[in-house]
Amino acid sequence: MATINKVLQSRQEKVIDTGNKVTVVGVGQVGMATVFSLLTQGVTNNIVMVDTNDDKLKGEMMDLQHGSAFLCNATIKAGTDYSITADSQICVIAAGVRQMEGEDRRNLVQRNVEVLKGIVPQLLKYSPNTIFLITSNPVDVLTYVTWKISGLPKHRVIGSGTNLDSARFRYLLSQKLSIAPTSCHAYIIGEHGDSSVPVWSSVNIAGVRLRDLNKNIGLDCDEENWKETHTQVVQSAYEVIKLKGYTSWAIGLSLTQLIKAILTNVASVHAVTTSLKGEHGITEDVFLSLPCVLGRNGILDVIRQPLTDVEREQLLQSAKVMAEVQSNIKF
Ligand code: 2OP
Repeated sequence: MATINKVLQSRQEKVIDTGNKVTVVGVGQVGMATVFSLLTQGVTNNIVMVDTNDDKLKGEMMDLQHGSAFLCNATIKAGTDYSITADSQICVIAAGVRQMEGEDRRNLVQRNVEVLKGIVPQLLKYSPNTIFLITSNPVDVLTYVTWKISGLPKHRVIGSGTNLDSARFRYLLSQKLSIAPTSCHAYIIGEHGDSSVPVWSSVNIAGVRLRDLNKNIGLDCDEENWKETHTQVVQSAYEVIKLKGYTSWAIGLSLTQLIKAILTNVASVHAVTTSLKGEHGITEDVFLSLPCVLGRNGILDVIRQPLTDVEREQLLQSAKVMAEVQSNIKF
């Protein structure tokens, strides 16, 4: 256009690829909290949203686009056709049914397996080199299902797992200790939710292990009842769902942290869902969380975290439960 040419003296073709394209499938509360957090933290400026609900997609897209002047020249697209997801670096799956009040995550499994069957092949068709990040529940089983359906190498199929449980744990510890959560070093591993395993033996503040100060920390015989902190973590989602109907902000922030780690190839450590076969004596092909190093290709390493006999036993129990749930899945 003439006016444009009067303003801009073109020096070269513009490169459209930002190299950080992220697709989010599912524009419910979790999907949108993730998109909002990604955009406002500047983790990506190239977002695609996919869902089956055209009006909701368009409404969310327009609302975010109207905020563009406050963002980093973001490209925000939405549609029901997967072709717009082409060449995504990361595909987040936040679609499917969610827990109702009092319902446990595992109860959703078969319904969400059906949802994944429709989504995963479509995403893969347009982004064969993508990394899948699953957050729909039950997240550990659905990460395994995505790996099965996609046929991708294990390091490119990741579940949001216990990164959120660990964050809840660190928040609660921070409240007890009056220290920032970022300085409370603690991991929850295993299943996201009910059978999660707090690794009390390595909880530390500046390298000071709480277990060295209280040898029974986290155990039933602990007179200070630190175990209650983990019980609160397990109850967190149930409580929030009872109060507001769903959880969204914390999981959105958790996913944003994982996406940032991958896109920036930062090699930071996060508890995420991956295959546990061969770790801690687990022989089944179950997917649960362990601390992993994340980078541009997904999971770079799994941390060989020393566990006490009690912690290892709890993890094996978690694996047994998962293997049972997995064996009942109809593909
Ligand atoms: C959460 O823990 C519901 O899994 C979801 O917030």
